[in-house]
Amino acid sequence: MNRQTLAQFDSDIFSIIEKERKRQEEGLEMIPSENFVSPAVLEALGSILTNKYSEGYVGNRYYGGCEFIDNVEQLAIDRARQLFGAEHVNVQPLSGAPANIAAYLAVLKPGDTILGMDLSHGGHLTHGSPVTHMANLFNFIRYKTNAQGVIDYDELRDMARRHKPKLVLVGYSAYSREIDYHIIKSIADETESMTMADVAHIAGLIAGGQMNNPVPLFDIVTTTTHKTLRGPRGGMIMCKEKWAKQIDKSVFPGFQGGPHEHNISAKAVAFKEALQPDFKVYAKQIMTNAKILEEELKKRDYTICFGQTDNHLLLINLANKGVTGKEAQIALDKAGITVNKNMVPDDPRSPMNPSGIRLGTPALTTRGMKEAEMRQIAAWLDTVIAHHANESVLAGVKKDIIALCQKYPLYV
Ligand SMILES: Cc1ncc(COP(=O)(O)O)c(C=O)c1O
Repeated sequence: MNRQTLAQFDSDIFSIIEKERKRQEEGLEMIPSENFVSPAVLEALGSILTNKYSEGYVGNRYYGGCEFIDNVEQLAIDRARQLFGAEHVNVQPLSGAPANIAAYLAVLKPGDTILGMDLSHGGHLTHGSPVTHMANLFNFIRYKTNAQGVIDYDELRDMARRHKPKLVLVGYSAYSREIDYHIIKSIADETESMTMADVAHIAGLIAGGQMNNPVPLFDIVTTTTHKTLRGPRGGMIMCKEKWAKQIDKSVFPGFQGGPHEHNISAKAVAFKEALQPDFKVYAKQIMTNAKILEEELKKRDYTICFGQTDNHLLLINLANKGVTGKEAQIALDKAGITVNKNMVPDDPRSPMNPSGIRLGTPALTTRGMKEAEMRQIAAWLDTVIAHHANESVLAGVKKDIIALCQKYPLYV
């Protein structure tokens, strides 16, 4: 076995990791789907559990030597159940997209109709984008948000009555408002449709008691574990007991092979963190920070899509600022602020060069930044967007950002 350290054996990879560490330490991470995991989560993720095969489920594996792996997976399941009030949990999905695909394949047949959110209004690729395999397999139809920026529940009801979907799907990547799961459940009940929520973005806000929780109400709830939930990169499916067998069979052997138990152990650690009382404080601060950004940006005449934010993210239409989402993303990158370009509802531009940017506060909040820092960051966002072609302005902002980040160290 090679017993050298990474630095000794592979200086190429080591030095790239160090550069990325510096980028994370010195920049403002504002991609709303990103976060910083704790050292404890990292330790579990880098543990010897990566060595073990364990196809199957707790107490019922295709491999020997799984007694400790079973303990790990059971703890992850128990903690997730406690966190969300779930009847049944599968912690094996490798990420959010595989979780969604396994969930569809568990309860639907090819050709079945899924009613989900229009992508430019905040839906995710796995909710029926024509570029995905799922779009060839299922018949996706799409509802949108209304003029006020809220899910158009009337349109959703009309479409459900017209199309009789097998599944009504909620949960979004760029939508910034609260979701009324009761209305959606009542619509689905009327049309005898199943309900599925993909809470990938807001799982941490739900776990922290700050947003509505669909788990007690919906048939199936999928999530990622690496966004607001602040765990390792991975997926998870929660469901009512009546779907448990189908969901489990769909994940394995239907769709995946051996579970990544090092990753599952890191999920368990993150769930334990999210069960601590201070996680509620964290979740609340994420939302307070997003609200401050909203207020400050509105003062500077920025167009916040969907009217406002009720969660951790803001989708901003830059059309009135004379800059595209792509130009803004590039300029912000140069200044040390990481965001992503994003389509806005009914965007006349293309996904690679859309009209908007999407930004959020989970990672900044993990660093300990609060209201005062958000006011400063809003001012920097405005300066960079207004002077996006002025390299010396961007360099000046970058210097100030490095100074701020040094006050909120990450992994030292
Ligand atoms: C709502 C939603 N679902 C699913 C996913 C897919 O997750 P992953 O990238 O882990 O496959 C994302 C990722 O951004 C998401 O926002």
